[in-house]
Amino acid sequence: MAATEKASVTLDKLVSLAKRRGFVFQSSEIYGGQSGAWDYGPLGVELKKNIQGVWWKEMTQMHDNIVGLDAAILMHPKVWHASGHVENFTDPLVECKSCRGRFRADHIDAKGACPTCGKKDTLGEPRKFNLMFTTHIGPVEETASTIYLRPETAQGIFVNFKNVVASSRVKVPFGIAQVGKAFRNEIVTKAFIFRTAEFEQMEMQFFIHPKQEPKWFEYWKQSRIDYYSKLGIDPAHLRFHQHGKDELAHYAINAFDIEFLFPMGWQELEGIHSRSDYDLRRHQEFSGDKQEYLDQETQERYLPYVIETSAGLTRSVLMVLTDAYEEETLGEGAEKGDIRTVMHFHPNLAPVKVAVMPVVKKDGLLELAQKLELSLREDFATMLEPTGNIGKNYRRQDEIGTPYCLTVDHQTKDDNTVTIRYRDSMKQERVAISELVSFIRNNIKNYVRGQ
Ligand code: GAP
Repeated sequence: MAATEKASVTLDKLVSLAKRRGFVFQSSEIYGGQSGAWDYGPLGVELKKNIQGVWWKEMTQMHDNIVGLDAAILMHPKVWHASGHVENFTDPLVECKSCRGRFRADHIDAKGACPTCGKKDTLGEPRKFNLMFTTHIGPVEETASTIYLRPETAQGIFVNFKNVVASSRVKVPFGIAQVGKAFRNEIVTKAFIFRTAEFEQMEMQFFIHPKQEPKWFEYWKQSRIDYYSKLGIDPAHLRFHQHGKDELAHYAINAFDIEFLFPMGWQELEGIHSRSDYDLRRHQEFSGDKQEYLDQETQERYLPYVIETSAGLTRSVLMVLTDAYEEETLGEGAEKGDIRTVMHFHPNLAPVKVAVMPVVKKDGLLELAQKLELSLREDFATMLEPTGNIGKNYRRQDEIGTPYCLTVDHQTKDDNTVTIRYRDSMKQERVAISELVSFIRNNIKNYVRGQ
């Protein structure tokens, strides 16, 4: 048993663990790195996929009125004129005349000293800086047309509104969910994977009758904050922040952020936006294609309102890493006083669910462990630890957040049982190999942090 003394998690500790264990690497590191971009390593890609999987299940499988979509990143340039992004998707940029540092005017102290060189009265006037990346489509740059990398996945949903209505059985109120990459030429990318130029979003547009806006806005606010308990996130680390009039995006009539207590403090994790009929109306106007919905029962034709839930997937990875991280000072036994670093991932999110290890390599125990690991692959993401060094194996598995370690020992040969060791409590018990799959499944289903 461990006496827990929780050391506070810092961004530096997360960056270091993420690199050491293969969660996240700096992009193009051998060339000095590319700012604003990060690569997900062998464990990071599993963690990210698992977070995406829980969100996708929550949205599509758990709701009978939400369907999925995977729209292209490259869209007709008119989409971004209609959506208002060409005109309005800007941040106020200020530049220091002395050191040439660039900052977001709304993120720095208004008193006028440059955050980089510290000089006073060197900051220029704020100017509007559009966050969309542009590129060209077609073989010759000069004649080819300018095209944008999407800054939000949502527009792919809006422009497919009529396709989805016509091709599936959905009726208002219904939602369309999508996960994908988005790109923003942020003035300052920062805080590891928190604010990057290339990132992933998990968005859902919920189409409703305008009169039902208050009801559905409340529903999605509550539903989205409740969802985070399914990821095992401590509710004390989550809160709402309502946008003031000056904070609202150009498309929103009301908005709440769900904020999380990141190592840098409280910051936005997800936005819940009431977008009225802004997007459908603008697309109708710019394309000339009617976007109205016909209610088959009442024969009413109208433009639906939209409640949007927009979560960052890559930002969620940072949240999960932050929330899971713990340095524990061991209180008993031979390791008393030692510190173990443990990632308390919810088992549904853990990149590896079950590690299998022989207590020693000899006496046929390694072969037995190999056989067991192979037999569990169909049901769980597994890993074999073949070295026979149990202490080291436990430490490594704790650090990558593996919730269950199975140890094969001499008794296994006699009675076909193994020891299961729980990551959080470090408690151990014996379980028959024949029962393992249902035993672990049950444990995952009823998981409570600390068990
Ligand atoms: N469609 C609405 C929309 O895009 P947003 O508040 O601008 O709304 C939604 O973004 C979420 O996307 C944010 O809460 C955040 O999690 C994520 N996000 C936005 N910009 C990001 C960036 N530069 N890097 C990482 N994640 C970002």
